[in-house]
Amino acid sequence: MATNITWHPSLSRSERAAYRGQRGLTLWFTGLSASGKSTVAVALEQHLLHLGVAAYRLDGDNVRFGLNKDLGFSDGDRAENIRRVAEVARLFADAAVVAIASFISPFRADRELARALHASHEHDADGPLPFVEVFVDVPLAVAEARDPKGLYRRARAGEVKHFTGIDSPYEPPENPDIVLRTDQASVEDCVAQVVRWLEDRGLIPAGKTPVADVPPAP
Ligand code: ADX
Repeated sequence: MATNITWHPSLSRSERAAYRGQRGLTLWFTGLSASGKSTVAVALEQHLLHLGVAAYRLDGDNVRFGLNKDLGFSDGDRAENIRRVAEVARLFADAAVVAIASFISPFRADRELARALHASHEHDADGPLPFVEVFVDVPLAVAEARDPKGLYRRARAGEVKHFTGIDSPYEPPENPDIVLRTDQASVEDCVAQVVRWLEDRGLIPAGKTPVADVPPAP
């Protein structure tokens, strides 16, 4: 626990948003392994960038190669995984970027903590940051039949322990903001559903035209 620390005020979030021409927010994808979270999140990130909206994806598998490589899959490690990532998503959102977090995040309490972190504005005159919970809802049987990494098969065989949906619980959201059924709708339709939801609420500008040609990196 750090002591003797003082919060240093910086540019306000609304100033940053004004310079960037967009507001930040966090889209929090939750769902079983192989539910389609990452697939939709990648397509959404690309779509938003194509519209000229800065977006950045934080992904369970990837973050566990770096920031969270010290964490496993016990309940406590998952809670710490989500706490850290929620803090990082919050920083991106504060920097006027659309943060797209895609983590199984199986426990309601951990997702509520992520939401609460975005709602708290102790050091912030600009109020809470938007936090949008996106439930990627497919039946376990569908996720298990997809099994792109062979992990369900290994979990059933007892070779992978504490696997979500098999011998570790998944607590579905009670009040998700958006529900995506990747077993019934295409990836493009799921992306369009999220984009429409954001546009309808003025969270991203409506009617932006896609960047025609992606310019070469400077
Ligand atoms: S979370 O539960 O802490 O939110 P996270 O999204 O970071 O999980 O990581 C999930 C990914 O880790 C899965 O997509 C899968 O590839 C891999 N994985 C490895 N072991 C497990 C396990 N026991 N339970 C769930 N996912 C696992």
